Amino acid sequence: MSDDSRPPQAGATIAVVIPAAGRGVRLGPGAPKALRTLNGTPMLIHAVRAMAASRAVSLVVVVAPPDGAAEVKTLLDAHALPGGSPAGGTDFLVVPGGDTRQESVRLGLDALPPGIDLVLVHDAARPLVPVDTVDAVIGAVRAGAPAVVPAMPLADTVKQVGPAGEPGAPEPVVATPERALLRAVQTPQGFDRATLVRAHETVTDDVTDDAGMVERLGVPVVVVPGHEEAFKVTRPLDLVLAEAVLARRRANDGF
Ligand code: C5P
Repeated sequence: MSDDSRPPQAGATIAVVIPAAGRGVRLGPGAPKALRTLNGTPMLIHAVRAMAASRAVSLVVVVAPPDGAAEVKTLLDAHALPGGSPAGGTDFLVVPGGDTRQESVRLGLDALPPGIDLVLVHDAARPLVPVDTVDAVIGAVRAGAPAVVPAMPLADTVKQVGPAGEPGAPEPVVATPERALLRAVQTPQGFDRATLVRAHETVTDDVTDDAGMVERLGVPVVVVPGHEEAFKVTRPLDLVLAEAVLARRRANDGF
């Protein structure tokens, strides 16, 4: 395992943990979100391919729904996946996940072999992230940042609200943070392995992303530009958008 004080350098061995154990209730009833299809291919397979597309990635650990690890293994075997690493191919591992995203990521980290010094965490729910974004995150960690997140400026103004006076009443606005200072954070997020493992061993509060856990350690986190196609598939309309992005890619590849 790498020492906290030394960032992973060029040539670092890189693994990706893909938490894919969520139910995806906001998408409506059906299969776990990661197993829903986009143009006939499960979202998870798109996400795995997006990670393996980076030549720097040598291992992908998929964290499957707790009762779905065998099904996910079968899926990975059934879909030809491109070799990613210079050593000639990306390895794949499947482990069962937990009740929360945080727990699922920790179970993925526990499965990493020795010798990995840089870890990306990527949501299965972001199946269309371009390889340039993956490589930008890796590049920033290799350049010395212990934690890196891809992020986008916000289109909407954001309001902070307080509790409604009584059930069903409108929530009062309590603050309007300056939009120019806000970023919407995507994945893959990239980390020095030892830093991320320490965060998962130390931070027990409910945090919605891995960089947030590293921030709690007081370790600096930096941002690189994200990409509009790295959006998270959360609601039914996102499925329509994701299929439109795939159709546009196919049309562009055809020319
Ligand atoms: O729920 P949310 O959209 O934030 O989930 C983000 C990612 O975390 C998804 O890819 C989901 O499958 C994963 N997750 C998980 N284990 C859970 C809950 C969510 O791996 N218990």
